[in-house]
Amino acid sequence: MDKQRTEQSLVLIKPDALRNSLTGYVLSHLSEYHTGLRYAGAKIVHVSQMLAEEHYAEHRDKVFFSSLIDFIMGRIHYPDEPGGRRVIALVYQGLDATKKIRDIAGPTNPLVARDSKPGCIRSLGTLAPLKDSEGNVIGERMDNLIHASATVAEAEREIKLWFAPHDIPPGMRAYPIEVSQDYYYYERGGGLCAGREPGSICFLTPNARAWKSDLEVIRLLQKGMTARSTIEAVVAKYLINYNEVISGSI
Ligand code: RTP
Ligand code: MG
Repeated sequence: MDKQRTEQSLVLIKPDALRNSLTGYVLSHLSEYHTGLRYAGAKIVHVSQMLAEEHYAEHRDKVFFSSLIDFIMGRIHYPDEPGGRRVIALVYQGLDATKKIRDIAGPTNPLVARDSKPGCIRSLGTLAPLKDSEGNVIGERMDNLIHASATVAEAEREIKLWFAPHDIPPGMRAYPIEVSQDYYYYERGGGLCAGREPGSICFLTPNARAWKSDLEVIRLLQKGMTARSTIEAVVAKYLINYNEVISGSI
């Protein structure tokens, strides 16, 4: 990849877009014909709690956080159909990918999007009142159809959060990879385990391709040192669509 001129950006087609059959609409707006951007990765993801919370970690203290997690996990738009809960995760690559996609997506709030940028993707979104346990309105939920990385640095964090190296063709990988030399296990609540234990799950095996930054985090955590991300941010992508994670047993 020509790193000097080319960027990658993460797009999520959110559950409200799937529910309303707007997937094709979103893909058309972002097509290579309109944007000059190419697909570097694509997958259908049942979003786990772990992945949702890591993706929106910056909003952990906000009043809308739990509804945002429910929304991105598909609980709001597929309440009685857990099997239908999906997002489509895409990596786009090309010149100014991050800014181009944010422009086409439009403002976060669908009402603002309609007023200030009719025709942008999010102008087709909706707002829903956000209520506390007593039914008082405390804010609003923004069902805005699409996530798009806000900056190049955020794009790197997000692409590495949703995609493992083998999800992206070798010639389109933007970040260094490393071959795992070992088995690595994760235990819910307990984090990284020393070995295979009841209730743990193996997320990397010898010879698997991992992001170099993931193995750096693992090595620091094994030494009891502080790392630049949580173990969950490392683990989540390797366990995407695993039954154990979806059911919450891990
Ligand atoms: P996104 O991350 O989903 O692409 O959206 P964004 O960058 O435009 O907005 P961000 O500030 O990152 O917020 C992430 C998502 O949280 C919901 N939100 N609700 N009620 C509120 O005040 C509020 N603010 C943000 C939206 O669903 C937004 O997409
Ligand atoms: Mg954002």
